[in-house]
Amino acid sequence: MAGRWMQGLYSVLLWIIPALTYLIGGVLFIRGIGDLTIGTLVAFVAMQTTLFPQLNTLLRVATQVRASLALFTRVFEYLDLEIPIKEAEEAQTFPGGRARGHVSFEDVHFAYPGAERDTIAGVTFEVPRGTHTAIVGSTGSGKTTLGYLLSRLYDVSTGRVLIDGIDVRELTLDSLAGAVGVVTQETYLLHASIADNLRFVKPDASEADMVRACEMAQIHAHIEALPQGYDTIVGERGYRFSGGEKQRLAIARTILRDPPILLLDEATSALDTVTERAMGGALRSLSEGRTTISIAHRLSTVRDADQILVVKAGRICERGTFDQLRAAGGEFSRLATGGRQA
Ligand SMILES: Nc1ncnc2c1ncn2[C@@H]1O[C@H](COP(=O)(O)OP(=O)(O)OP(=O)(O)O)[C@@H](O)[C@H]1O
Ligand SMILES: [Mg+2]
Repeated sequence: MAGRWMQGLYSVLLWIIPALTYLIGGVLFIRGIGDLTIGTLVAFVAMQTTLFPQLNTLLRVATQVRASLALFTRVFEYLDLEIPIKEAEEAQTFPGGRARGHVSFEDVHFAYPGAERDTIAGVTFEVPRGTHTAIVGSTGSGKTTLGYLLSRLYDVSTGRVLIDGIDVRELTLDSLAGAVGVVTQETYLLHASIADNLRFVKPDASEADMVRACEMAQIHAHIEALPQGYDTIVGERGYRFSGGEKQRLAIARTILRDPPILLLDEATSALDTVTERAMGGALRSLSEGRTTISIAHRLSTVRDADQILVVKAGRICERGTFDQLRAAGGEFSRLATGGRQA
């Protein structure tokens, strides 16, 4: 707005000046003051009218610079934002460089900044190395939040989250990121080629590695069928792909990264049966030999789990295997038969 006002003001001034020149020059000429001739006056104004557009352009640059500075201020405000998750002074890495993959939550409490009540209110569970734990529960019960705490997007209020017996707050951010692979409800793809999106997590991955990961994620055939194959640009936020395809790309990316712990936050939206089968296959090859925590919405994922945790309002209200929970006839069987979940 300030820029527009200045611009308007300059333009008006530059139009008024020739008129004023004629007025003053005219008065001087009529009164016979000085040796002013009509010719000089007209030539002077003609010079003004050729110079002023140029001057106006220069002034416009000044307002553009001001506008850009205002934009930069906002960008820098973001860059200067303090990151609340900090690496500990003497942060450690996993012995041997790679996590083995034992996850435990010890009486974890957590509230989002500004929230009145705890979103996670005393959660304790163990996921032994190489096993599969499914987390189910109605929407808003805090399942995704549990995942955030494991990957340390937020720090717990009290209690501890441990990987191989080490508190996640004592790990270097790099080693934590290397240990936990996350496939989320919303998949983030960059506006670049498919290959670039895959290499993003492992820049030195070979062509063969990439193809192998995509085959395991059951997306290779689909990519091959595209006219530009792996060089296809995915589009802003991956709009050229369906939800299921995007998720399988994300799975391929995670396979490429090869983390010992896998966190899957399944998309809530219903998939068609073909996609569901493809996704199931992709997920199975992904979780093989890895500690897997899946936030599940589909019966097929839950049935195979070694342990199912039922979350309700930030607490675990039931735990056990599929058959045990079905037999118990509690919250889980209500969710399972209600059709909304599992
Ligand atoms: N960034 C946030 N700030 C404040 N409150 C939040 C934030 N994210 C989530 N919540 C709240 O925390 C609660 C748990 O959210 P969460 O995303 O963990 O649910 P969920 O179990 O994953 O649900 P769904 O099955 O729909 O994915 C909800 O009541 C939600 O409104
Ligand atoms: Mg969720």
